[in-house]
Amino acid sequence: MNTMEVIRTRRSVRTFDGRALTMEDLGKLADYIESISNPYRIPVEFVFLDTEEYGLSTPVIKGEKMYIAAKAPAVKHAEEAYGYAFEKMVLYAWSLGIGTTWIGGTMKRELFEKAAYTAEGEHMFCISPLGYPAAKMGLREAAMRKGVRADKRKPAKDLFFESDFSTPLDVENSPVKDALEAVRLAPSAVNKQPWRIVRDGRKYHFYLKHDKGYADGAWDIQKIDMGIALCHFMTMTEGTFLLEDPLYPLDSELEYIATVEIPEE
Ligand SMILES: Cc1cc2nc3c(=O)[nH]c(=O)nc-3n(C[C@H](O)[C@H](O)[C@H](O)COP(=O)(O)O)c2cc1C
Repeated sequence: MNTMEVIRTRRSVRTFDGRALTMEDLGKLADYIESISNPYRIPVEFVFLDTEEYGLSTPVIKGEKMYIAAKAPAVKHAEEAYGYAFEKMVLYAWSLGIGTTWIGGTMKRELFEKAAYTAEGEHMFCISPLGYPAAKMGLREAAMRKGVRADKRKPAKDLFFESDFSTPLDVENSPVKDALEAVRLAPSAVNKQPWRIVRDGRKYHFYLKHDKGYADGAWDIQKIDMGIALCHFMTMTEGTFLLEDPLYPLDSELEYIATVEIPEE
């Protein structure tokens, strides 16, 4: 599978077949994780957690034998860095046939933080089960997908713009058509898809359209979504990461996150 196929076919998996990961797959995933970097150069440390050893489970998820957690220092941009790095893991796992589900809400957070030895000054924002998808989705999983309309995404015209936020980008004729589609298909918390992109020449400026109630003061889960969007776009374009503020006229719900400059054709 190439990257686009991985992105197109990936879905959250909440019903597993009860098998533990093979030593071969676990070894490949562990090796890959060692190679993951992120454009913010903020360290993101992954931890494998055995369900039995730590007495771990989460609502709706069935048949899992293992979780993966990750920790990052509580610094500016930690969420975006984390989203980027964790999504790299998610995509690679899927390429091996391993299912994941990003979980930032539906868990006993203290239990997982403790199991992952999360220290003072660190955040363990999210976790994911790891396992092989069951042949049939559980009823609760199917109901959950329906609840967040997990198979749906916003249309490109509502997400991608030319020069400012009033003109939709001509995605069909864009040199980065696939990369934009990869962003559109990305997973996000409660499937809110808070990313907006404004193109200016070879530069693609990423903005966060805030929904109410997602930032808890200490951190903002929608910034993790932005890291995921950056991961998909940068993986597809091999663009250069920049932090600048182009200062387009913004409404109060929009926040500038980062810019990716794509290579010359
Ligand atoms: C940062 C983040 C947090 C999430 N938290 C949860 C969660 O707590 N529980 C859950 O069941 N799904 C969670 N999800 C999964 C989303 O609901 C899912 O990605 C979205 O509905 C799209 O479905 P898909 O992943 O199958 O494409 C989360 C996703 C992201 C990106």
